[in-house]
Amino acid sequence: MENTQNLLSIVHLKKYFPVSGGIFQRKRFLKANEDVSFDIKAGETFSLVGESGSGKSTLGRTVLGLYKPTSGKVVYYGKEGRGVELTALSEKEFRPLRKDLQIIFQDPYSSLNPRMTVGQIIEEGVATQGLYKRGSEAMREYIFSVLEKCGLQKEAIQRYPHQFSGGQRQRVCIARALAVKPKFIVCDECVSALDASVQSQILNLLTELKEKENLTYLFISHDLSVVRYVSDRVGVMYLGDMAEIGEAEEVFKNPRHPYTIALLASAPSKNKKEEIVLKGNVPSPVSPPSGCKFHTRCFMAKECCTKLVPPLKDIGGGHCVACHFAEVSTREKRNLAKKI
Ligand SMILES: Nc1ncnc2c1ncn2[C@@H]1O[C@H](COP(=O)(O)OP(=O)(O)OP(=O)(O)O)[C@@H](O)[C@H]1O
Ligand code: SF4
Ligand SMILES: [Mg+2]
Repeated sequence: MENTQNLLSIVHLKKYFPVSGGIFQRKRFLKANEDVSFDIKAGETFSLVGESGSGKSTLGRTVLGLYKPTSGKVVYYGKEGRGVELTALSEKEFRPLRKDLQIIFQDPYSSLNPRMTVGQIIEEGVATQGLYKRGSEAMREYIFSVLEKCGLQKEAIQRYPHQFSGGQRQRVCIARALAVKPKFIVCDECVSALDASVQSQILNLLTELKEKENLTYLFISHDLSVVRYVSDRVGVMYLGDMAEIGEAEEVFKNPRHPYTIALLASAPSKNKKEEIVLKGNVPSPVSPPSGCKFHTRCFMAKECCTKLVPPLKDIGGGHCVACHFAEVSTREKRNLAKKI
């Protein structure tokens, strides 16, 4: 498996969680991710958007090997473009690659050990990866350099997580991830809990680090304005499936999946001219609708949509849409939506 452009390939990935039922009931599964395929290019920020429960975090965790997939594979092209099938590795085989693949969570407080100083928190990962010797002067200097890169003072090394503001704590989490010299970081709602002004500082830091440290991000967020700001490409998820993928500007300006159109139109915006409300709730991922999973809420569903699963097809320039009517223009779809 040779590849110079993609850092990761996600191929027909499925993640089902067993659902407990009665002893005489047939075993049932919650389908958090269903047959998801896409590539993440080296150096890009690929974002995942979609309503709560659409499977974004599960996908991020499965890509990192934190969840074992039900089927499908994740191929990582970290070593000079040579592909390694992460999903086929044992825990021991995965260990040397762990440092390459990091995650930053929404709540920096709960992901930092309150009894450890920031210095100890960062040292932990660095020493485990054998980058510097625990307690050495070189380790201390290295931690200082990482703190500085993340906009934190040297004094932070001896302070505890509760002594920082929310934004500074998120900087500590970024420093912890960055310290092990990763190649890929999943940012799961990493600015969602922060005030708007702090959000933009953290987003700017992530953008700066991406350039300086040659990072690739999988950015997960509910906030479409944040996603538009940070992303190179975006994937729109619905009930565990990928509904639309494309260059971020293209998907935001020219969305072709009715779900994306409704999602973008429902997002709060100061100068919104139109209002298309996403009707109804997300159906249960335990027994999702037949055919196109979106048909129960879609403003242009037809008979065929209830029976046939629409494939994710490229309508040009890598803009992929899973809809039987992908070719119908954005304007025509918006007009149809407004009539309902
Ligand atoms: N460990 C788990 N065990 C069982 N079900 C799970 C588990 N993790 C997630 N799920 C279920 O899988 C589905 C997808 O959840 P996931 O957290 O991936 O969605 P999400 O898009 O990240 O949502 P949110 O935007 O709320 O974070 C949901 O129905 C959720 O309840
Ligand atoms: S396939 Fe049918 S139901 Fe699904 S998004 Fe397209 S029009 Fe709507
Ligand atoms: Mg989530």
